[in-house]
Amino acid sequence: MRLALCLLLVSVSPVAAKPPNIVFILADDFGWNDVGYHGSEIRTPHLDRLSGQGVRLENYYVQPLCSPSRNQLMTGRYQIRTGLQHQIIWPCQPYCVPLDEKLLPELLQDAGYATHMVGKWHLGMFRKDCLPTRRGFQTFFGYLTGSEDYFTHHRCTLIAPLNMTRCALDLRDGEDVALNYTGQYSTELFSQRAEDIISSHGPEKPLFLYVALQAVHAPLQVPERYVAPYSFIKNTHRREYAGMVSAMDEAVGNISRALQDAGLWNNTVLIFSTDNGGQTLSGGNNWPLRGRKWTLWEGGVRGVGFVTGPMIEQPGSVSRGLIHVSDWLPTIVGLAGASTNGTKPLDGFNVWDTISHGQASPRVELLHNIDPLFVDDSPCE
Ligand SMILES: *[C@@H]1O[C@H](CO)[C@@H](O)[C@H](O)[C@H]1NC(C)=O
Ligand SMILES: *[C@@H]1O[C@H](CO)[C@@H](O)[C@H](O)[C@H]1NC(C)=O
Ligand SMILES: *[C@@H]1O[C@H](CO)[C@@H](O)[C@H](O)[C@H]1NC(C)=O
Ligand SMILES: *[C@@H]1O[C@H](CO)[C@@H](O)[C@H](O)[C@H]1NC(C)=O
Ligand SMILES: *[C@@H]1O[C@H](CO)[C@@H](O)[C@H](O)[C@H]1NC(C)=O
Repeated sequence: MRLALCLLLVSVSPVAAKPPNIVFILADDFGWNDVGYHGSEIRTPHLDRLSGQGVRLENYYVQPLCSPSRNQLMTGRYQIRTGLQHQIIWPCQPYCVPLDEKLLPELLQDAGYATHMVGKWHLGMFRKDCLPTRRGFQTFFGYLTGSEDYFTHHRCTLIAPLNMTRCALDLRDGEDVALNYTGQYSTELFSQRAEDIISSHGPEKPLFLYVALQAVHAPLQVPERYVAPYSFIKNTHRREYAGMVSAMDEAVGNISRALQDAGLWNNTVLIFSTDNGGQTLSGGNNWPLRGRKWTLWEGGVRGVGFVTGPMIEQPGSVSRGLIHVSDWLPTIVGLAGASTNGTKPLDGFNVWDTISHGQASPRVELLHNIDPLFVDDSPCE
């Protein structure tokens, strides 16, 4: 009887669509006026092409800082709910996104996805339970703090109570310290690792790949070949930053090419986002938006973002719907046919219909922050 019912169901339902591969590329501190399609003097041919084939999100908001934005991406919940309303997580702070939060990669793994992360975590590391490998990612290659040297992968921290600076390698393969990458520029190192994951991904499972690039956060470091085209930029910070953006643009191009070469592209949704506005003190530019990273002016919270891939129903369009970084979790879960079972009450909305075919956004407002305890000083640097 049960068998007959199953056969009946199979014979009458249309062939179930295979859940799409989801590739989420997060840039760090990438400014509004730093992408070609916003009129920047910096050339970003890959970002321009990919976004031009997809949907550019022109009313898209993020948090003004790394950890709070990344927290929302992973939990679908505002940072006021996870103790991340004050600031970022500093290297010496014994904190992480609370362990009773169920994160996006866990939900996707429950739904049968292979889950991989490359790049910057910055959601806490003081206990092993806080690490990406314990929070839903089957593999991780990257670093755990908020910034470091692009070539040595060392992070230096001033330990204020001791008045001492300590430096250490912050690069891991899984949970092991990755020793052998000194001298390799992280933008290339991380895109190469993403390409390796893509090319060795088997057809049995859909892929969730989260690439959180170090670019284009300070320090300003970049191989000379990326800076060479920008001799016309007189400001040294801006010139080096422009080279870093070009390297990042090339990384995104390489990752999209790898998806095509692997035959995955026709069933992939690629999302690109910055984590917050540009840092104008380190070469970023948010013109015509006022302010920068760390501020609640538009330059701090209005983010560059786009969604692309063959599943977009109105390719080549611009979305002016209100979209927020907390919306990615329910949107991606919806695309994946996964479940939010196990999450706490979400602040995000599923905005796929807004992105893919221009429907009105279900979101009418968003919370930037509530923080009665303004903390101006970091416990360490
Ligand atoms: C910290 O150490 C430096 C030298 O390493 C010294 O110049 C400075 O006065 C010290 N600061 C404090 C607060 O002790
Ligand atoms: C990585 O470096 C360590 C220590 O320098 C060395 O023992 C090991 O063989 C290296 N591994 C690879 C794969 O090169
Ligand atoms: C992109 O791929 C090309 C060709 O493999 C390589 O030379 C280049 O270094 C890659 N760029 C980045 C940023 O990974
Ligand atoms: C995607 O490509 C694969 C392999 O080439 C093919 O089997 C599949 O039918 C394609 N799917 C769509 C939706 O075009
Ligand atoms: C939600 O998850 C719990 C345990 O993780 C499980 O017992 C329950 O059946 C799930 N509910 C649904 C609707 O899937």
